[in-house]
Formats: sequence, C-alpha cells, structure tokens
Amino acid sequence: MDYSKSLENKLKEIRNKDARKVKILAIETSCDETAAAVVRGGRKVLSSIVNSQIAIHSKYGGVVPEVASRQHGLVLSKVVDAALCEAGEEFDSIDAVAVTCGPGLVGALLVGVSYAKGIALAKSLPLLGVNHIEGHICSNYITHPRLKPPFLCLIVSGGHSHIVLVEGYDELKVLGRTRDDAAGEAFDKIGRLLGVPYPGGPNLEKLASRGDPDAYPFPRGMKNEQGYDLTFSGLKTAVINMLHKAREKGQKVNAADVAASFQAAVVETLVEKTFLALCKSGMDKLAVCGGVSANGALRDAVRRRAAETGAKVYFPAPEYCGDNAAMIGCAGHLMLLRGAVSGLDLDANPSLGLN
Ligand SMILES: Nc1ncnc2c1ncn2[C@@H]1O[C@H](COP(=O)(O)OP(=O)(O)OP(=O)(O)O)[C@@H](O)[C@H]1O
Ligand SMILES: [Mg+2]
Repeated sequence: MDYSKSLENKLKEIRNKDARKVKILAIETSCDETAAAVVRGGRKVLSSIVNSQIAIHSKYGGVVPEVASRQHGLVLSKVVDAALCEAGEEFDSIDAVAVTCGPGLVGALLVGVSYAKGIALAKSLPLLGVNHIEGHICSNYITHPRLKPPFLCLIVSGGHSHIVLVEGYDELKVLGRTRDDAAGEAFDKIGRLLGVPYPGGPNLEKLASRGDPDAYPFPRGMKNEQGYDLTFSGLKTAVINMLHKAREKGQKVNAADVAASFQAAVVETLVEKTFLALCKSGMDKLAVCGGVSANGALRDAVRRRAAETGAKVYFPAPEYCGDNAAMIGCAGHLMLLRGAVSGLDLDANPSLGLN
C-alpha cells in the first residue's frame, strides 16, 4: 500500500482512539542536544533522553555547526532506541512521529527531519514538523498538565527572547522580541569574556552567586522605551567597555561582581517588560520557558513580582528548560489534534518564525 493510503488509515485509527492514549515519538536536533522522547496524550512523558554535546563544543567555546550535525548523525538512532526502550514501546506501538523542523542550525535540523521522515515512511505514521519555539512553550504544559491558554509567555533561550500572548494552543501573538541578542546569547558572550566555561549561562549564574548585583550600575535595555521589545547589546557593550577600561588602568575587577551585576540587569530588563505586558494584556497567568528560565535570579524576581501583582506563574521543570524532545512531542500532539500533519516533503527551516 502506498504511504498516502496507509497514512489515511492510520489517521482514521487515531481519530477513533482516546486522545489521552495517543503516543508520539519525538525527535529534537536543532542545536547541540540530540534528544528523543515518547509522550502519551500530549502531556505524559514516558521517556525523555537528551544526549548533550557540551563536552564536544566546550573546547571551541561555542557550538560548531558542522560538528553538531555529524554528532547528531552518529548518536540519533541510539538515542531514539533508548527513548523507546525506556518507555517500554517500539516503533510499531507508536502513533506518530514529531520532529523539530526549525528554527535552528540547518545541518543539525536536517539530521532529525530526515530520520523522522524515514520512520514515518517505513511505519506509515503521520509526520509532525514542530516549531522549536512552540516546543519551548509546551515545556510548561508537560510540567503543569492543567495549564491552558490564555496566558502570557516569556521565552528566553539561546537564540530567542520573545514576549508572547498565547491566546489559544495555536494562536500566538508576539508582543515583544529582542532587537539584537537573545538573553541566553548575552549570558554566553559575557560568560566567555569573564572566562567561565561554555555554556556561559549556568556557569555565569554560579559565579554571580558569589558577587554583588549592585557593584556595577549596568544599563537596563529599553527602560525608557514604549512597547515590549527587548535589547541586550547596550548592556553587553557596557560590560565590555568597563572591563577594557579597568584593564587599561591596571585595575583589578571582581569577576563575580561583574557577573552578578550583569545578571541583575538582564533579569530586571526581562521582568519589567514582561510585567508591563502582563498588566496591559490583562492576563493573570505567566509562563516562562527556554534555557534561561532555569536561572534562579530570574525565577526569584518573577515570583516576587507575581506575588505583588497576584499573577500565577509557571516555570518548566529543570529538565525541560533547555532543549529536549518531550516538549516537541507535546507540540506534535497539539498539531495532530488539529490535523496539521506534515507531508514527506517537510524541509528544515533554520529561520522558522512563530506563526
Ligand atoms: N541557569 C542559567 N542562567 C542563564 N542562562 C542559562 C542558564 N541555563 C541555561 N542558560 C542559557 O540557555 C541557553 C540554552 O537554552 P536553549 O537550549 O533553550 O537555547 P537554544 O535551543 O540554543 O536556542 P533556541 O531555543 O532559541 O533555538 C544558553 O544560552 C544557556 O547559556
Ligand atoms: Mg532551544
């Protein structure tokens, strides 16, 4: 039987099934994590395996795209096997395959997309091409299975900083975005300047825990601007200039104080704009997601502000802040429910935007 005929039968079978029992195999290879997961009913994670390439890229101080693609190719089938095994499933007991198709590194994305297409074709399964950023939003659905739109979402990852109004599962309105660097990118760049190991974010946070956040009055981007856009390039330049001047004068700087002051500026910028958007949009729920949502100072500041305003806040469990395939499985399940099945001509789109 050809793929389209057997896919039609499979989709009919899925429609007749209790949606809570539908099992999705999900694959994520957009950057430097090779990940696979099995998710049941969109929100129950049966397994989630993440094979990180940090050790490989750390000697270069950042992700090397070609090395990332090759590594995905080497380990992906083992990671998928491990996810199926841990979930007690096999290819034949899976209902659909979800895969990140963008945004991300094109070569890295292609490894996952090609592999997922192969499984979909071989097993006559629906293929679901997932937007990685929508995946990050879904990390909160997995952690908080009762969470439903509408809510406001702050997405802070390595490549994105967005303030998004989630009006429905597939109704996303971007209210604000960074005009230059993403929050995670700024952490990584300043981390490198301060000599902390890659990835800068978590290691800079550790360094900052020993420093004084008021030691340096770094600028808070977009403070006096209307709207909800963000910027971190002025802050980055201020840190670079301060370090440069101190070196020229032969002054010693306390790296922990610089880290703590930088982190405080990022956190204040994010919190101010997010709560402005929350207040203006009339939302009473705020979800934060993406790698930077693991940051303790950000979590504390958001919780403090939420307690003052009465908003309810949601953060992903630590294992779902950074890249993982469980969030892709959750997003894939939502696509399957609304019939948004991808064709076998699905392509990787490195600059895929949000709706
Ligand atoms: N505790 C932390 N504090 C600050 N930043 C952190 C922390 N933990 C991780 N990060 C940052 O999060 C980023 C990684 O997050 P994530 O995996 O979501 O990004 P990405 O997948 O590379 O980018 P994107 O999701 O935008 O495509 C890195 O920039 C990392 O430094
Ligand atoms: Mg990510």
